Amino acid sequence: MNQTVVIFDTDPGIDDAMALLLLHALPSIEIRAISTVFGNASIAACTRNALYICERFNLPYPVYQGAGVTFTGQAETDYPDFVHGLDGLGDVGFPAPSRHAESQTSVDYMIETLRATDEPIELLAVGRMTNLAEALRQAPDIAPLIQRIVMMGGAVAVPGNVTQWAEANIYGDPEAAAFVFDSGVPVLMVGLDATLEHRMKKTSLMALRHELGDAGEFLWQIKQCYLKFYADKGIFDGFPIHDSTAALAVVHPDCFEMRRGNLVCETQGEQRGRTVFTESEEGVHEVAMAADSAQLTTIFETAMHAKYGAGSL
Ligand code: BDR
Ligand code: CA
Repeated sequence: MNQTVVIFDTDPGIDDAMALLLLHALPSIEIRAISTVFGNASIAACTRNALYICERFNLPYPVYQGAGVTFTGQAETDYPDFVHGLDGLGDVGFPAPSRHAESQTSVDYMIETLRATDEPIELLAVGRMTNLAEALRQAPDIAPLIQRIVMMGGAVAVPGNVTQWAEANIYGDPEAAAFVFDSGVPVLMVGLDATLEHRMKKTSLMALRHELGDAGEFLWQIKQCYLKFYADKGIFDGFPIHDSTAALAVVHPDCFEMRRGNLVCETQGEQRGRTVFTESEEGVHEVAMAADSAQLTTIFETAMHAKYGAGSL
């Protein structure tokens, strides 16, 4: 099978953790490396979490640490511990991993890797776009070498989840998003328009807990924090799985309503972090405007059962 090669740029993060296990399970994807970025927690915590997941589930991917401050050098003062816990993985109390990150930074790794190969490589970014913007700023020659960026973030026709206008990954570093959108690299944006349409039911999570062995138990444990966040909002029966939805969009575009056009990101005023999309057949960007949740659920569950379920290899 022809696999799509991705560098997975992530801020684990509860839904990032699920997306990583899903990517590992999808037969049509090859993860070349994991690149971390701050966002759901500090960069040290996000890198530790990526290493912990790799170690616990024998994921053979190198982990490169990326940015701990925004594209313009701003430190984060307010991590979303009410969603992801203080440690980024729901404060279950996991031990420190013994694996270490690679010595090269993720930005240097991306630049070097893209320059060294003519193999098509996609960047799947499910956190702030800081590392991608930094790589493109330091090495503009890599723009034509990137096959595509698929990113979870933004909102077009639905409200944001941090402000009325802005989604969290974009709001966390709007200058990075603006820089990437302006770079000429093809981008597929899988934002709240699509991800809010693909929710996992709490009953499905409970079933996965029993069906997926250690992976099921891990997902159940980390998701308790997430379930509480949604329950506090009066939502008891399910939750979006933003980053997994973006991961599925890489290889299952048919499950989405895609529109072509051009994206810009507002960086000023009350609309800071808003992603504005103008449809155009000549556009370099695509946006997932809707998702077929039933189909995506089937693909998700099939892959996860095959990789982690009883009788899996
Ligand atoms: C996005 O923000 C983060 O909290 C999640 O990991 C996801 O990538 C959703 O807005
Ligand atoms: Ca994320």
